Amino acid sequence: MKSISSEIKYDLYDSSSELETHDRELLEAAVASTDTAYAPYSKFHVGAAVLLENGEVVQGSNQENAAYPSGLCAERVALFAAASHFPDVKIKSIAITACFNDSNELLSVSPCGDCRQVLAEYEHRYQSGIRMILTAGQGRVIIVPDARTLLPLMFNADHLKRD
Ligand code: THU
Repeated sequence: MKSISSEIKYDLYDSSSELETHDRELLEAAVASTDTAYAPYSKFHVGAAVLLENGEVVQGSNQENAAYPSGLCAERVALFAAASHFPDVKIKSIAITACFNDSNELLSVSPCGDCRQVLAEYEHRYQSGIRMILTAGQGRVIIVPDARTLLPLMFNADHLKRD
């Protein structure tokens, strides 16, 4: 038996003003998308913005449903829209933020397990990491270099291959 450990590395910024312009602009697009959330049940408005290699930005927000599991997170709304409209274009980055419906305060947010799996699928599809720009509360921002960092021992298409 061997014990194996892994650590994750990410960058923590005290303020979005420290970000490079293209990251700050993507985050601003995610913030704008919180306005389009349909979240009458949780009141938790999530906005996502995906930057593609061709420079296009595709936005999304969470869309809830009275049958709760039928709703979808902002990340997957944005990712699926991006991959539908631009199927052959690599996804470079995704910015994600959240606030409650009655406040502009940007909250700490991180993609759920299902969204991590979807991000990992697109990393595999395009053979290219997707940077994640996440608000971390109190004005702070986290940048994670790729989705696989958040999904150790992930299941992907390689597992479906026969020898
Ligand atoms: N949600 C997202 O859209 N993205 C996340 O990263 C976390 C959670 C949504 C799902 C649901 O509409 C609401 O936030 C509360 O879970």
